[in-house]
Amino acid sequence: MRKTRLAIIGLGRLGRKCAEAIAADRTSELAGVVRRPESATEPWLKAPVVTHVSELGRVDAALVCVPVDAVTDVAQDLLQGHVPVVECARLHGESFLAHKADIHRDALRHKMPAVVGAGCDPGVLSLFRGQFALLVPHGHTDISLHAGASLHHTLAAAGIGGVKQALATERRSREDTLQRYVYVELEPSADAAEVEKAIVNDPLFRDEQTLVFTVPSIAALEETNHGVVLERRAAAGEGSHASFLLEARYDEAGVAARMMLAAVRALPSLRPGAYSLLDVPPGALWGEQRPAAEKEWM
Ligand SMILES: NC(=O)c1ccc[n+]([C@@H]2O[C@H](COP(=O)([O-])OP(=O)(O)OC[C@H]3O[C@@H](n4cnc5c(N)ncnc54)[C@H](OP(=O)(O)O)[C@@H]3O)[C@@H](O)[C@H]2O)c1
Repeated sequence: MRKTRLAIIGLGRLGRKCAEAIAADRTSELAGVVRRPESATEPWLKAPVVTHVSELGRVDAALVCVPVDAVTDVAQDLLQGHVPVVECARLHGESFLAHKADIHRDALRHKMPAVVGAGCDPGVLSLFRGQFALLVPHGHTDISLHAGASLHHTLAAAGIGGVKQALATERRSREDTLQRYVYVELEPSADAAEVEKAIVNDPLFRDEQTLVFTVPSIAALEETNHGVVLERRAAAGEGSHASFLLEARYDEAGVAARMMLAAVRALPSLRPGAYSLLDVPPGALWGEQRPAAEKEWM
């Protein structure tokens, strides 16, 4: 069987996980990694490292693993060079749709397929959220990013001036009082004491004991302990009382890399344009294993 030759663009956290996922995959091989010229060498990497994808010879698809604000330009360059694209920039809602539309235009112009948002979130978690809502159309979805984490409080803390990213978790003490632990990654110019004061005095946090910790990187904190509890419950008054619950623990970048490889398998079946995981038929994500998957999972 001819293996799919893949390029990884950007060797950060996700790029490394993509290299691991390709090494463990029977159907693909790493053609090489495209890095910025200033990036350090990686002795463990057994594939060519170049500064432009055109130096890699035949490439069947590229996994784009660069920061969100660089993804569109990188994808545009790849599509222009007739390399199909898979990416999973952390974008949601309107920003995701605008991003998809940008890539769709370039994909049509260069007659290439691209799969966007094919990671963990956006990605496989988006699919679960959507399926739960399909099954419980009138209801409410709760998602917490860690066991014990509060999305509501995380968003509130992230909205405080000087906070780049935040993560709010909650814990019940033995005396049954609620304690909040708020982890914040600060903007370089931020004053940690001012940020702490703003959070503990925020009406949303004032009712409970709130402890604020400054950390160098929320992403690094999440990487070591990523979990999600996703629950969809029928609205009060709905006769069914249906509820669906997903409780998962995983390495987010590792899951995103797996989903990107699944999206690669779908590329040959796609006409030019940009597709989200909602557009791609589920069977296409299995590639040649589709008949076996249908037999086993249906
Ligand atoms: N959907 C999901 O579940 C999910 C999960 C994880 C990540 N992501 C997305 O994946 C992307 C990468 O995330 P990450 O955590 O791996 O980030 P990261 O660790 O910061 O790595 C990004 C890499 O991109 C390259 N790079 C940096 N600045 C660049 C620029 N201006 N132009 C081009 N390349 C640049 C660098 O690699 P070199 O040094 O090799 O050039 C860097 O290591 C982001 O878009 C993120 O939103 C999505």
